[in-house]
Amino acid sequence: MIEGDGMWRGARVLVLAALSLLAEPSLAAKKFNLTIGYLPCITGDLRDRQGLTISGALSIALEELNNNTSLLPDVELLLEWHDTKFDTVTATRLITDMSCAGVVAFFGPEGRCHTEAIVAQSRNLPMISYRCSDYQTSTLSNFARLEPPGAQATKSVISLLRYYRWNKFSILYEESWVTVALTLENHAKKNNMTVNHQRAVIDGYKCCEDKMTCCAPGFWYQFIQDTKNKTRIYVFLGSTSGLIEMMTAMESLHLFSKGEYMVIFVDMMTYSPKEALKYLIKTEDRVSTKLICPNTIDFKKRAQSLLVVVSSEPSSDYEEFTNKVRKYNTLAPFTFKESVFVNQFFSKFVSIYAAYLYDSVKLYARALDQIIKEETRNEPLTEAKLRSIATNGTRIVAKMIQSSPYKSITGMSIRLDERADSEGNFSVLAFKPTKYQDGDVNCSYSMIPVGHFQHQNKREFPEYKLNPRLPIDWPDSVKPEDEPSCGFLNEKCPKDDSQITSLVVAGTLAVTLFCALVVTISIYRKWKIEQEIEGLLWKIDPQEIAGYLGSGLVWSPSKLSLASGISCESKCCTQIFTTTAQFKGNVVRIKELKFSKKKDIPREIMKEMRLLRELRHDNLNSFIGAVVEPLRVLILTDYCAKGSLYDIIENEDIKLDKMFISSLIHDLIKGMMFIHTSPLIFHGNLKSSNCVVTSRWMLQVADFGLHELRACAENEFIGEHQYYRGLLWKAPELLREMDNPNGTVGGTQKGDVYAFGIILYEIIARRGPFGLTGTEPKDIIERLKRPKLDGEEVFRPNTDALDPPPEDYVVACMKDCWAEDPNLRPDFPTIRSRLKKMKSGKSRNIMDQMMDMMEKYANNLEELVTERTRLLMEEKQKTEDLLHRMLPKRWT
Ligand SMILES: *[C@@H]1O[C@H](CO)[C@@H](O)[C@H](O)[C@H]1NC(C)=O
Ligand SMILES: *[C@@H]1O[C@H](CO)[C@@H](O)[C@H](O)[C@H]1NC(C)=O
Ligand SMILES: *[C@@H]1O[C@H](CO)[C@@H](O)[C@H](O)[C@H]1NC(C)=O
Ligand SMILES: *[C@@H]1O[C@H](CO)[C@@H](O)[C@H](O)[C@H]1NC(C)=O
Ligand SMILES: *[C@@H]1O[C@H](CO)[C@@H](O)[C@H](O)[C@H]1NC(C)=O
Ligand SMILES: *[C@@H]1O[C@H](CO)[C@@H](O)[C@H](O)[C@H]1NC(C)=O
Ligand SMILES: *[C@@H]1O[C@H](CO)[C@@H](O)[C@H](O)[C@H]1NC(C)=O
Ligand SMILES: *[C@@H]1O[C@H](CO)[C@@H](O)[C@H](O)[C@H]1NC(C)=O
Ligand SMILES: *[C@@H]1O[C@H](CO)[C@@H](O)[C@H](O)[C@H]1NC(C)=O
Repeated sequence: MIEGDGMWRGARVLVLAALSLLAEPSLAAKKFNLTIGYLPCITGDLRDRQGLTISGALSIALEELNNNTSLLPDVELLLEWHDTKFDTVTATRLITDMSCAGVVAFFGPEGRCHTEAIVAQSRNLPMISYRCSDYQTSTLSNFARLEPPGAQATKSVISLLRYYRWNKFSILYEESWVTVALTLENHAKKNNMTVNHQRAVIDGYKCCEDKMTCCAPGFWYQFIQDTKNKTRIYVFLGSTSGLIEMMTAMESLHLFSKGEYMVIFVDMMTYSPKEALKYLIKTEDRVSTKLICPNTIDFKKRAQSLLVVVSSEPSSDYEEFTNKVRKYNTLAPFTFKESVFVNQFFSKFVSIYAAYLYDSVKLYARALDQIIKEETRNEPLTEAKLRSIATNGTRIVAKMIQSSPYKSITGMSIRLDERADSEGNFSVLAFKPTKYQDGDVNCSYSMIPVGHFQHQNKREFPEYKLNPRLPIDWPDSVKPEDEPSCGFLNEKCPKDDSQITSLVVAGTLAVTLFCALVVTISIYRKWKIEQEIEGLLWKIDPQEIAGYLGSGLVWSPSKLSLASGISCESKCCTQIFTTTAQFKGNVVRIKELKFSKKKDIPREIMKEMRLLRELRHDNLNSFIGAVVEPLRVLILTDYCAKGSLYDIIENEDIKLDKMFISSLIHDLIKGMMFIHTSPLIFHGNLKSSNCVVTSRWMLQVADFGLHELRACAENEFIGEHQYYRGLLWKAPELLREMDNPNGTVGGTQKGDVYAFGIILYEIIARRGPFGLTGTEPKDIIERLKRPKLDGEEVFRPNTDALDPPPEDYVVACMKDCWAEDPNLRPDFPTIRSRLKKMKSGKSRNIMDQMMDMMEKYANNLEELVTERTRLLMEEKQKTEDLLHRMLPKRWT
């Protein structure tokens, strides 16, 4: 019985134990174990390894998940972690091993992840990255990324640029940012924006490490110099030290002074007010000394020209979270030791990656939970089902995207894009006065958030929301433009057009004015010449002539005395009486040409008048001018006191000795030589009455030129005799010419020589031009004109019956001058040399000779007076002697 009792008791215990055993697994069976893998980088070459500082975040997330009864209630999440040492081979080995060991999801690896992601993809295991620099990995469907890739910031940058209508900008980037730069450019193109420049620079630290040229301080200067003319907005992607160097270069080029340029900087780090001045002042420069806040206007302008797009600052709760992370780092499973040094002076900085890690686990769990709930609506969850769900990476990642935006531990709402990349949450920083004070930093200004970006449902680009309480202080009070209103090269300005137009107008005007000036000048010159021709010089106002026009002819008294006693024939000759008048106080000779009809003086004659005025010679009767009236022309010439040569020859009272004759003839020759070499060429009307003699007995040739005018002039009725007499000096060939209606009025040089021959005869013979022939002038003319009969001598003055007979050479010269053939007649220079002997060596002029004579006479007179006085004295003496003799001595 006791045994049975014992047996029953044992059985009861067994049953209980079995029951309890049964019960316990059933209780435990409620929770399925799921192991997740964590691949941090704790050792290795990776810069800024996060493994040691952020791993606690994972522990926190797991504990929270396992404590939460509403999230994955049937699942216990277990952790398996291994250090990848920033080595791809190690990481891939770990992944394969872990997946074989039943790990259903991977967080990490830190640093590189592409190969590892592909390995995970081979089993479609979800891989969620909190820090990975391989951007191409994003295309994998099992891969999600909670660290926003730099490219995500570009969406916010585009939103910012569009908000301020900066549609033209330049992208400058450090080489490692090339993906971001390309993404930005693509987004810009999608938005119809213009990228003025897209240039890469080598990262500053790399330059100087490798001692490249880009390390030199002037490097950025050249860069800006090359681009500044074609842009106003720069987007810089790179390090803060690069940003400061670039802005220093811009400042040295005075780009900020007018507030025309803006720089937009993208910082992927989270904003921290403590570090806010790192964009303006090199923090490396200050070591344990207080930050000096520059307060110059230049610094302010430069700072105001900068906008920073930065990851938004986490909420104030985040600080608490980081403390917790620090604590959990020291706990299982990681149990990292915090060094005493670090603990004592400042807490180890927990970066934003802790948040990404925490968020990634939470997000994964939420997605898994949702899928499980979807799948277990109708049927219970089984181990196999859970595994198949948890290992379907594609589905989990898709669910993660679907469930975003999620609330991050940082307090921000964050979205995953279609490739399961976190879009991040960015703010815009601008330079504003602020009261922030912290340790070494005590400035009255800082870069503070003035705006942030907000999700818009389903829209690709977030919306830029400006904080209305914090307006941006633009460098020059107004927002800079992406392009000057006139274009980068002033090519768009209407002002330019108007300038060009006005330039063209001015040019045209100048040319027109110039042309007008030239035309005016030429017209003026022509007009002036015309004026000279038409008479300003030669034309004489009738009012200026006194004693002629009003009172009729004034007979020169001297003329009268000279002309008195001359023959009737001579009296009737118009040439004998010279009409004179007063012109400007001088006596002038006037020759009146009358016309029956109104006579217009042609230009040719006016020109000739001008020419006549210019002719000046001792043996030429000077032309003074002319009075032109409709029906008459008065020709004014110098008045010669002794009248014409004709008068002198005809006046028998005047005895002409050889010397006198020679003087007159040579004067005549000189006058004619001058005419023949002048533009007049010939006299045409040479005769003794057209030669005048001055008061000093100098002969002057007169009445030359103006043949046409003279020919047109209506001759006063002078009678047939007189008319033909006037022609006696004309050469036979010219007489014949006169009958030809087409013939020219005027003459020839040879004709002048003929006339000279006649005058020479006239002077020597003093019997008229053809001597005392008794033949009527008309008959003489007829004979001269008539062609010579056979054997007949040409009709010329008779040289044989001269008394006293002249020298042979004179006669020979005379005869040559009136030769029938004009070509045989000598010219005046020849005549002069042939008649030189007449002067018989005396070259003095006739007046001087007369003076000699008078002197001689005066001397004689003196002698005569002395003689007479002597004779008188003698007579007086004789008378006195006589008186003495006649009167008594006492009386005397
Ligand atoms: C789950 O894991 C815990 C320890 O981590 C272990 O004790 C338990 O037996 C596991 N449950 C199952 C069902 O494997
Ligand atoms: C989870 O729950 C345990 C006890 O139920 C508690 O001690 C622990 O603090 C909780 N952890 C978190 C992160 O809430
Ligand atoms: C548990 O998870 C749910 C869903 O994510 C959440 O709303 C709740 O606050 C969590 N509870 C605790 C105690 O963390
Ligand atoms: C860009 O321009 C094209 C053609 O002009 C137009 O169809 C498109 O809507 C524009 N896109 C944006 C974002 O303005
Ligand atoms: C930029 O413009 C300034 C003045 O307008 C000129 O002197 C300079 O040569 C230009 N630089 C370039 C790179 O075109
Ligand atoms: C993973 O999930 C998708 C649906 O999201 C499904 O079509 C696919 O068959 C699943 N793969 C496995 C291996 O269960
Ligand atoms: C950033 O976070 C704030 C606050 O949660 C949210 O309102 C905003 O939409 C977020 N923006 C982006 C772009 O995620
Ligand atoms: C900061 O600077 C202001 C003047 O610029 C001064 O009044 C203030 O005392 C300073 N504060 C600290 C903590 O140095
Ligand atoms: C005069 O001229 C006219 C025409 O000009 C001509 O027909 C005629 O023959 C000329 N007479 C002489 C004599 O040359």
